[in-house]
Amino acid sequence: MKIAICPGSFDPITKGHLDIIARATTLFDKVIVLVAVNPSKRCSFTAEERLDMIRRSTTQMERVEVDTFSGLLADYVDQVGACAIVKGLRAVSDFEYEFQLVMANRKLHNKAETIFLTTASEYMFLSSSFVKELAEFGGNIADFVPAEIVGDIMERLGKS
Ligand code: PNS
Repeated sequence: MKIAICPGSFDPITKGHLDIIARATTLFDKVIVLVAVNPSKRCSFTAEERLDMIRRSTTQMERVEVDTFSGLLADYVDQVGACAIVKGLRAVSDFEYEFQLVMANRKLHNKAETIFLTTASEYMFLSSSFVKELAEFGGNIADFVPAEIVGDIMERLGKS
């Protein structure tokens, strides 16, 4: 069975993430969406909340599992026997950081390949930070995040 990991902060998951995850399911038997817990990163949602939002957004995707992990991605990849790490690439500006991660993961674990899927053109500009800023300023986030989680985000970040 070919297993891929889609790792990220997902704070929160966006339609851009969802598009990459859906496309990864056409390439692999199982796709594990992995909420990486990084204690030094200040997130708006707890790991459990992010996990729950991803779960509710991917119920229609049969090959998708959701998990959380605190530690090195390379160790998780080993633990579940994944053959690939799948990431979305939006623009050239993403490349330097992603390239660093690929090199680090390759050094730590030389079996899994990192595969980049280019983001759909309508989500080129989209990021979790953009969604959060939009919500904080009372903008309409419905076009940018799965319908299932609009309420969660507005409740946490929107002005009541
Ligand atoms: O959505 P993000 O924040 O860009 O995702 C980055 C993530 C979580 C994929 C990356 O930080 C990661 O893999 N973290 C786990 C720790 C790790 O293995 N770091 C790389 C080697 S030092």
